[in-house]
Parts: sequence; structure tokens; C-alpha cells
Amino acid sequence: MKKFRNLFPVVVIFLFCTSCIDNDQDLTYEYYEDYQLMENVLNIPNDSPMDYTLKFPEYYGRDAFFNANMATLGRVMFYDTNLSADRTVSCASCHKQELAFSDDKVVSDGIFDEVTDRNSLALGAVFNFQEYYGTASISAVPFFWDNSIRTVQEQIVMTFGSEKEMDMTIDEVVDVMNNNDYYRPLIKANNMDKITNAAAVEALAVFVNSIGSYGSKFDKELSVAAGGRIGFGQSRDVATRSFSGFTSSENRGKDIYMNSCASCHGELMGAPNELQANNGILINDGDYGIPGSQGEFKVPSLRNLTLTYPYMHDGRFATIEDVIEHYSTGIQMNPALHNNLKDNSGNAMAMNFSDDEKEDLIAFLKTFDDEEFLTNPLYSDPFIR
Ligand code: HEC
Ligand code: HEC
Repeated sequence: MKKFRNLFPVVVIFLFCTSCIDNDQDLTYEYYEDYQLMENVLNIPNDSPMDYTLKFPEYYGRDAFFNANMATLGRVMFYDTNLSADRTVSCASCHKQELAFSDDKVVSDGIFDEVTDRNSLALGAVFNFQEYYGTASISAVPFFWDNSIRTVQEQIVMTFGSEKEMDMTIDEVVDVMNNNDYYRPLIKANNMDKITNAAAVEALAVFVNSIGSYGSKFDKELSVAAGGRIGFGQSRDVATRSFSGFTSSENRGKDIYMNSCASCHGELMGAPNELQANNGILINDGDYGIPGSQGEFKVPSLRNLTLTYPYMHDGRFATIEDVIEHYSTGIQMNPALHNNLKDNSGNAMAMNFSDDEKEDLIAFLKTFDDEEFLTNPLYSDPFIR
């Protein structure tokens, strides 16, 4: 009897452990059907899709949710050079994550040695396309340097179609996707056997919409200053308060920015206060920007500014210092010059910053940089190269 008593717990433990092992095996769950079709091409785990819930900063007041299966499919499309006519260019060729999804070239290299007409625009710089601006509402902030495009979906069709950038119809894009095996598990995960034109555009749009940069020092300090939710577009004055986590130089730079720059670029790094303007740069190449204007362009977001060089629609300024010098002493009078950059007598303004002011302003502009964004795995290259 004594013997049995000693054995009993051992037996129980043995039985328990066997069931542990069984459970463990049940837990090695395979998420994708036909995973072997993509495992050698794509570095996408097979347990579950990545969670595309964006935890926005506190002042924004809520999170954003994106369909993970669509975003994952879109992420693969974004990095896939097979979706261009000469199979060498992907969206990521000109929108590099380590450069806040911009390009360090004046103009970007497209297919067959073509180059783009203008400097690449950073993504995620626009706070968050769909969640923030809505899709096609009148108040939505439009895309491209000439603000000619209203939705990401439209932008995607245009970019694929551009002879210089990718030169692919959506029919052709869909053909490549349906004929490359590594897409099959991702398409199936979205409950389709074959991808359709609309779904292909939508998947890429979901991914692009999910690209959001909101983890900068500025965002964090704005949340502290706001003491919780303020929402974009409201309580702009919060941004003008002194930020406790800023250095005195950054706070002085913030004052300069709020006085001299925010009237166009916005106080909160969300929507700009002016959608388009001429900022006193000389038009010398026949590119007059917004159709019908005499040299007005999108007022771009300044998020991750350190990385989005060269600057302006034509990449004419190589450094932030050059940009500051432009606003300090280089603003040119022209018929389209925005009133925000004219002095009281209607002449082109010269901000005439001192060296200290320039230093402070640059220190502040650098608080828009968002390190986490540059390595966020949600947006990284999924291809095993
Ligand atoms: C060959 C380089 C190149 C490729 C490839 C490319 N882009 Fe761009 N992208 C640009 C340039 C240049 C601009 C600015 C064009 C303009 O405004 O005239 C831009 C602008 C954009 C914008 C507008 C951003 C804003 O704030 O207005 C989005 C969004 C975008 N691209 C997404 C994509 C996606 C998605 C793809 C892949 C389907 C892609 N791009 C492929 C160069 C490229
Ligand atoms: C009248 C509105 C206006 C004001 C005021 C203004 N900007 Fe701009 N800014 C623009 C426009 C428009 C562009 C794009 C011009 C272009 O590319 O042709 C621009 C472009 C920029 C760029 C280049 C961004 C990029 O990604 O290429 C930087 C940096 C910039 N401005 C910083 C500032 C700073 C700093 C101030 C204040 C000292 C300021 N701006 C004041 C309208 C304005």
C-alpha cells in the first residue's frame, strides 16, 4: 500500500504531462494554408497575422484598427519588385522605411532608367491617412505635391500606371499576384481563391493607411502638456505651452515655429493649416505645381524631417540649414507668394534669424523625428533577400 501511495503522484504527473505535450502540439497552430508556398520567400510567421492596431499618442484619444490580413498582403505588395514592368522597382524603392518612407535622391529612380518628376514624399508623415483624414471627404488632405489626388486607392492606381514609376495596369498587377505562389496563402487568408482588382488595390491601401508616425518626442510631450485627450484640430494652444520634457533650446525653437511656421505647417503636426501655398521659392524649371496656380505646392508635413532630405518638391535644398536660410533671407517675391510670408508692406518677408534662433528652431524641428517608426516591424520588408 505504501508503495502505491508513492507511485500515485508519479502516475498523475506522468498522465498530466502527457496531456501537456498533447496540448502543446495542439498549440503549434498553423495559421496559413499552404504555408510552404511562401516560407522560402517571405519572412512571415505562421502562428497569426501581425496585429495592426496602432496605439496613437494619448492626446489623440483613441487607437486605430486595420484588417491584419489585408495589411499583411499589402505589405508584401509594397515591397514586391515583381509588381513593376521591368521587375526592378517596388513602392519601397522610393519610399524607404529607414528614411521615414521617403528617398534621399533629388528625384527617384523608376523603371528602365527613368526618374520621377519630383522629390519623393515621406509616408506616415501624413499622420494617418484613412483614420485621420477620412477617405474621400472634402476636408481630406489630398496627396502629391500638387494635391491632385484625394485617396490612397487613387494614388495606387496612378503610381502603378505611371510609365516612369512602375508602368503596370491593375490587371497586370493582379495577374502577377495570382501567378506567384507566395501570394496564394496570403490571398486565401483574405477568403479569396484569386485576388480581384478591387481587393488588390484595397489591400495595398490598407497597408499604406496603416503607416503612421506618431511616436516622436513632440507627440509624447504634446500628450503630457495636454494632460490627456485633445484630439487633432482642437486646442491648438496646447502646442504653444512650454513642454516640460523639452530642453530650453527646443522650447525656444517651438516658440519660433509657432510664430513663423505653424500658420502653414500646423501646430499639431496633423493637418496643415494651409493645404497649399507658395513659400517664396523661385520657380525656375517650369513646374508651377497646383494646376492653375503660379507656383503653389502642397504644404508638406514636417514629420521625421531629419530623414526626408533633400527638401522641397524638387529637392533643391540638401539640408535643414538650407531650408532655414531660405525662410531667413531667401524668400522671393512672386505673384503667388502666400500672405503668411509677406511683411506689413506686402513685400517678401525676411525672418532674419540669428544663429542662436536657427539653432533653436532646428533643435525643435528634430523633435518630429520618430525612431520607433523607422524599425517598426509592421512596416518592414517581409522578403527574404
Ligand atoms: C519611382 C519612385 C516611386 C515609386 C515606385 C512609388 N512612389 Fe510614391 N511617390 C513618389 C514620388 C516622387 C512622389 C511625389 C510625387 C508628386 O507629388 O508628384 C510620391 C508620392 C506618393 C504618395 C503621396 C504622399 C503625400 O503625402 O502626398 C503616396 C501615398 C505614395 N507615393 C505611395 C506609393 C505607393 C503605395 C507606391 C507603390 C504602388 C509608390 N508610392 C511607388 C515616388 C515613387
Ligand atoms: C506660407 C506657408 C508656409 C510657411 C509660413 C512656412 N512654410 Fe515651409 N513650406 C511651405 C510650402 C508650400 C512648402 C513646399 C514648397 C515646395 O516644395 O515648393 C514648404 C516646405 C517646407 C519644408 C520642406 C519639407 C520637405 O519635406 O521637403 C520645410 C523643412 C519647411 N517648409 C519648413 C518650414 C519652416 C521651418 C517654416 C518657418 C520658419 C516654414 N516652413 C514656414 C509653406 C510654408
